Amino acid sequence: MSDERVEQAVRVGLGERGYDVVVGDGILGGIGGAAREVGLRGRCALISDERVAGLYGDEVEGSLRAAGYEVVRVEVPEGEASKSLGQVEACCGAMARGGLDRGSFVLALGGGVVGDLAGLVAAVYYRGVPYVQVPTTVVAQVDSSVGGKTGVNLGEGKNLVGAFHQPRLVWADVATLATLGEREYREGFAEVIKHAAIRDAAMLDGLGARVAERGGAGMVELMARNVAIKARVVEEDERETAGVRALLNFGHTAGHGIEAAGGYGRFLHGEAISLGLVVAVRLSVQVAGLAEGEAARVLGALEEFGLPMVLPEDVEIAAVLEAMGRDKKFEGGQVRFVLLRALGDAFVSEDVTVEMVGEVLSP
Ligand SMILES: NC(=O)c1ccc[n+]([C@@H]2O[C@H](COP(=O)([O-])OP(=O)(O)OC[C@H]3O[C@@H](n4cnc5c(N)ncnc54)[C@H](O)[C@@H]3O)[C@@H](O)[C@H]2O)c1
Ligand SMILES: [Zn+2]
Repeated sequence: MSDERVEQAVRVGLGERGYDVVVGDGILGGIGGAAREVGLRGRCALISDERVAGLYGDEVEGSLRAAGYEVVRVEVPEGEASKSLGQVEACCGAMARGGLDRGSFVLALGGGVVGDLAGLVAAVYYRGVPYVQVPTTVVAQVDSSVGGKTGVNLGEGKNLVGAFHQPRLVWADVATLATLGEREYREGFAEVIKHAAIRDAAMLDGLGARVAERGGAGMVELMARNVAIKARVVEEDERETAGVRALLNFGHTAGHGIEAAGGYGRFLHGEAISLGLVVAVRLSVQVAGLAEGEAARVLGALEEFGLPMVLPEDVEIAAVLEAMGRDKKFEGGQVRFVLLRALGDAFVSEDVTVEMVGEVLSP
């Protein structure tokens, strides 16, 4: 331990929409000054969920006030259900009552739920105001806070309503991960393992150490390394039109089906993605020539984090396949499934059928 401030900045190079993702240990109280440095003005809508607001809301608000910002706090209930159009309306209403106009900005403090919701609020409030992401879960720090995808769910499916809206700054403090529940901490590593599989296999080495050791320089380094992977993909394909960003869906086609079949409450996102990664890795071996030894490295990492690898018997495979059929990734009935030829070599395959997914999921 040293009292030197550990901090790394990763640039997301998107020209005039570019921004820094700052990852550090114990940097939360620096957010106000950082917002000033990137030129944010006006009042701030600090959007958070009740749990995260209770843990970190005062520190963030204090930092913003110390930097001269007026702050309007907006809190939503914790959980995926807050990613709804109803909450978009509620947040915008609270902001209007708080006197926030087109010259204000949004700060999303929390996990991916808050980030996706508050990002969409920022995209539509006064036809778009700037926003800052302050991610407080592993998923949010390595994935959802970076890249500008915002959105909410409909009864008909996840993320069906959204917008591309890049944040002005991402401020990720790994020290906040200390208060995550064990299950919520571990599930985030499904996205880390996904990143490793598609772009950076060496990241799997020593990853297991993070099960016990949440903070510190090692954690900052790991989060920044993941952010860099996501940032490079987003730079190549900001709006998911070139096929590169689609590679981030590795494990997600089956994973989203499993998430839906579990009624969204059964599995945490990363737990469903873990099961989806198992499917994607097995299919990669079957149809894309992924070596068994490489598949085993990915599966071994999931195991180290105690992530689910076998679909529980009471989750019906038919329900998973049915939900997959509704997924955006099955565009126009065409199945688009991300597979690996080798670790680090992902591609979108059209050779996978729903039946094949069913077979892999069968005991
Ligand atoms: N936009 C994108 O590119 C993208 C990418 C990946 C995932 N997502 C979305 O992210 C969402 C999942 O995000 P998530 O896994 O962060 O879930 P989440 O936001 O629901 O957070 C999980 C739980 O942890 C609590 N929490 C958050 N930070 C905490 C902390 N530091 N200490 C204690 N408790 C804390 C929250 O209150 C919540 O109950 C999904 O809706 C998914 O669709 C979006
Ligand atoms: Zn995900």
